[in-house]
Amino acid sequence: MRYFITGGAGFIGSNYIRYLLNRNHNCTILNFDDLTYAGNLNNLSTINKDNRYSFVKGNICDFQKVDEAFDQFHPDYVVNFAAETHVDRSITNPDIFVKSNVLGVQNLLQVSLRHEVKKYLQISTDEVYGSLGKTGTFKETTPLDPRSPYSASKAGADLLTQAYFHTYQLPINITRCSNNYGPYQFPEKLIPLTILNCLNGKKIPVYGDGLNIRDWIHVDDHCSAIDLVLHSGLPGEVYNIGAHNERSNIKIVKTIIRILGKFQPGLNISEDLISFVKDRKGHDRRYAIDSTKIQKNLKWEPSIPFEKGLEITIHWYLDHQDGLESVITKDYQLYYDKQYGKKIS
Ligand code: NAD
Ligand code: TYD
Repeated sequence: MRYFITGGAGFIGSNYIRYLLNRNHNCTILNFDDLTYAGNLNNLSTINKDNRYSFVKGNICDFQKVDEAFDQFHPDYVVNFAAETHVDRSITNPDIFVKSNVLGVQNLLQVSLRHEVKKYLQISTDEVYGSLGKTGTFKETTPLDPRSPYSASKAGADLLTQAYFHTYQLPINITRCSNNYGPYQFPEKLIPLTILNCLNGKKIPVYGDGLNIRDWIHVDDHCSAIDLVLHSGLPGEVYNIGAHNERSNIKIVKTIIRILGKFQPGLNISEDLISFVKDRKGHDRRYAIDSTKIQKNLKWEPSIPFEKGLEITIHWYLDHQDGLESVITKDYQLYYDKQYGKKIS
């Protein structure tokens, strides 16, 4: 089976490539990634020499480059992870989100149609459903109501993907997953940012009152769901993916501080590091995903309890501190100072 994976140098894509290679002896993988600030080939250093894996640097918006790569590789399956993914960056710089997440997806769909792939899987997000009040959950039938430039661009991609199914019968699926955590996540996101700031004795910026809620899933559970949908999902269908781990941001931050304080008693890690900062513009209040459909129809279930998964993740960051230093580039530092202000840097 030949897998064309886009965005495989990022967080979830690199975990999915490792997942496939560890479980599927018959797979051949082409990782097509433009190596933006979030793409890092070191995320794949453990499998670089595996002869089932190869890499092409390219942008999903570049029709010719994608088409040439398909011509040479002849993929059976396309799994699209490539996207701009950080909500804060979408607020300050929305245009690149529309280019990569909407135009890039249309391009990939068109090339996938031309090459008659067996399945195109669009990796989407629960953020396309908008924001919940105190109760309720997102179901696949919940109307799309994106509220950030990031989620609006992902919703646009979902609609195009469905249009290619209905108009041209391209066999597609869409998965909408909740917030992921695990190894190799870029440090701009809440969990790795909190871990690294604790280790470096830096303040932890918590937006607003810290009571916004996200629903967390370990990236390995996301990968197992993706693989199942790719091979067993009914063409044209959307599947929500989640693991029922709703937590407020402040609770997440305090849990990380507690666990790290236990592992690194010499570092003086305490709740004094928490700094409540100005809220994110249009900050979605609560996400909670109902994944009954994939659980019932495809017999999937998550296997990693949140507190255990978080501890394992924290251990991983502790063991990989050297590698992470190289991710904190000058550009990232500039972004950080601009996003949070010098006060918190
Ligand atoms: P990431 O930011 O870690 O990685 C994105 C990858 O895509 C990088 O390797 C980057 O170089 C590549 N890329 C970006 N634009 C590209 C382009 N135009 N052409 C080629 N490559 C490009 O992202 P992630 O967290 O791994 O997310 C992967 C996918 O999963 C995204 O589509 C995201 O919307 C979705 N998703 C993420 C989460 C989450 O919690 N991280 C949750 C649900 C869904
Ligand atoms: P994030 O990891 O950016 O994921 P998303 O916005 O896609 O859910 O943020 C998770 C939550 O943490 C979100 O409610 C915003 C909040 N947050 C902070 O409070 N401080 C931060 O520095 C960051 C990056 C996020």
